Parts: sequence; C-alpha cells; structure tokens
Amino acid sequence: MSDPVRWGILGAGQIAKKFAAALKQLADARLVAVGSQSPERAESFGQEFDAPKRYASYAELANDPQIDVVYVATRHPGHNRNALLALGAGKAVLCEKPFALNASQAREVIEFARGKKLFLMEAMWTRFFPLMVKLREMLREKVIGEARMLIADFGFRAEFDPASRLFNPADGGGALLDVGVYPVSLASMIFGAPAKITSLARLGQTGVDEESAVLLQHAGGELAMLGCALRTNMPQEAVILGRSGQIRIHSPWWRPHSMTLTIDQDQKRAERKKRLRFNLPFARPISLSIIARVGSENTLELPYEGNGYGYEAAEVMRCLRAGKVESSVMPLDESLSIMQTLDAIRAPWGLRYPGDSRE
Ligand SMILES: NC(=O)c1ccc[n+]([C@@H]2O[C@H](COP(=O)([O-])OP(=O)(O)OC[C@H]3O[C@@H](n4cnc5c(N)ncnc54)[C@H](OP(=O)(O)O)[C@@H]3O)[C@@H](O)[C@H]2O)c1
Repeated sequence: MSDPVRWGILGAGQIAKKFAAALKQLADARLVAVGSQSPERAESFGQEFDAPKRYASYAELANDPQIDVVYVATRHPGHNRNALLALGAGKAVLCEKPFALNASQAREVIEFARGKKLFLMEAMWTRFFPLMVKLREMLREKVIGEARMLIADFGFRAEFDPASRLFNPADGGGALLDVGVYPVSLASMIFGAPAKITSLARLGQTGVDEESAVLLQHAGGELAMLGCALRTNMPQEAVILGRSGQIRIHSPWWRPHSMTLTIDQDQKRAERKKRLRFNLPFARPISLSIIARVGSENTLELPYEGNGYGYEAAEVMRCLRAGKVESSVMPLDESLSIMQTLDAIRAPWGLRYPGDSRE
C-alpha cells in the first residue's frame, strides 16, 4: 500500500476532532469520510476537517469501499457495536479506549477481527509517544535495575454534571473507564497482567466511581499503586521504581514529554559508611566521578509533535502497510487483559453499567 491510507471516522464528537486534526499532519493519511448519527454534525465536521464524504449513519460509513480503516470515536458502550459494524464491512479498525465496556465485549470484537483476519487496535495513544518508546528501551536495558513498583495516577476535577458522559452510568461513566484505564495500561505495559487485584472507590450521586485507589500485584511480585479521579485533581505523574533507581514521568504522564531518571544513592551511601567505619584519614577517598555517577539525576525532554494523536495513527498505518493484523505495541491479548483487570477492579464496588447486561 503506497497510496495514502484512507480513514473514516465513526462518531463526530470531542476526541474525533482531535484525531482528525492529527491526521491532517500526516502526509500518508487521508481523511475520506465521517459518519455521525446527526447529519448536521457530520456536515460541520466534514467541513472543518476537509472530509469529502459526510454520512448520517455509521453503516454507510462502514460500507464505503474507499475507506481502509475506521476510527471508532464513540462513547464507551458504543465501541463493541461500532467496531463490529466496521469489521463486518471488511474494514481495519482503531477503537478508542477503553477498548470496550467490559472484557466480554472486548473478547467478542477480538475474536471477530481475528476470524476475519482484519486489523484491530485499541487507541491507547499514550503508548506511541516518543517518550514511551524511550521508556520501554530503558526498561529493557534495566537502566534502573529490575523494575519492582509503579506509582501512577490520572485524576482531574470535573464539576458534577449528571448529564455529562463522565457521570452517566448509561455512557459507562466514572473515572476508571475514562482515565483509570491509563495507569492500568501502563502497569500492564511494564509488568504484564496482574495476578492479584485490590481496590476501593467512592461512588458519587449517579452511582459511578468518582475517586478510587487500586493495588495490583503482578506475576513476579511487582506492585502497582494506582489512582484515578474525576472530582479531584491528582499529580498525574508516574514513577517507576527499580532496584537501583527510578524514572519519574512528569505530569501529565499520559501525554508525556519529559522524565527524570535518578540512579540510587545506595552506592554513595555505602562509600560514606566505609569512610566513617575506617575513620576518614585512612579511608580511600571517593573519586568525584563516582559521586557524579551515583545519585545522579538526568531529565530527558522528549517533545511530541502536534497534539500527540498522530503517533497511534502512524502505528496503524505502519501495520497496515506491513500486512499486520495486530500491533506489537498494543496487542489485542493485552487489551483484553486490561479490560479483565478493569472488570475485576470495579466488581467489588458493585459498579455495573446498563450495557454490561449485553454480556
Ligand atoms: N484518547 C484520548 O485522549 C481520549 C480523550 C477523550 C475521550 N476518549 C475516548 O473517546 C470516546 C469518546 O469520547 P468523547 O469525549 O469524544 O465523547 P463525546 O464527544 O461525548 O461523544 C462522542 C460521540 O459519541 C456519540 N454519542 C454521543 N452521545 C451519545 C449517546 N448518548 N449515545 C450514543 N452515542 C452517543 C456521538 O456520535 P455522533 O456524532 O455519531 O452522534 C458523539 O459524537 C470515549 O470512549 C473516551 O474514552 C479518548
């Protein structure tokens, strides 16, 4: 495929606009069509982002033969249904996070895509930023030794509005599915699937989680301490703690641009103890270069281009051109496992969505 990849956007809401703006910056991408339940929204979206075709139904968009890949940008409960529609029409699909409302719906879409040998990927955009590429490389190289713990959150303050999708159970509202999925996905990227899951939440007036704390223990005993909120601002930092150092991804870590690598002071302390124990005049002096190396702090700036949504789109196009049906950066088994974790996190809260009954 050497021609531009032809995109269709399904749903003309907030995130769809950001994604369409990002596509414009990619030379090998072309936005061909948008589909909205509202003809007016389809028309104005098409005008704003130069999409020549504007459909007033998702089915028409899915069946357009001039589209290679459909970006599903509807609210959480629509992801499963809309992804199935596009896959059913033979299209590759990039589906917004959370990948589905629950694991059962995620599994259905994955099995369908695999059965049809069609590309499918969760739009967990954070994974594709330059900083995340570098982070994975640093973890592979054990720059901080073996990674043992993660502290990460995604919490922000929204004014209470029962009409907003964030607070509406029918829209899969609550912090967990909207923003909690980010730290859960980060823990999964670093440590794999959790073996044990513990969580506490405060549910608000509409019955959805407004603040929560999550503890995950992974197969090798690694711990992830995660938090999310939609009524409370949180630091929005992520810290990965290793045996010999730590990496702090600065706020907002989920749209990352810089991180600080700190190598532990242990070696420095050990040298100091040695000096004390042997009484300074007889101890071998610590060389300045050692002091500079241990206990060092380095901040890496890794800026991103545009609004940051172009990286996930580029990954989709790279996969399509390579004939792949899955991304190795955001594999489908992992998207399923993340949905299973989200299900297990909210189960003890008694939080069920109307859409869960479709299981
Ligand atoms: N990756 C990110 O950074 C990011 C950021 C924000 C959101 N998201 C995800 O993107 C998805 C959409 O979020 P958003 O903020 O863009 O939402 P939104 O603007 O409120 O809605 C998105 C679209 O969903 C459809 N929709 C709206 N209300 C609906 C309803 N009551 N029933 C059925 N469909 C309805 C509409 O499509 P029509 O135009 O067809 O009517 C709407 O344009 C969510 O799953 C969210 O988690 C991702």
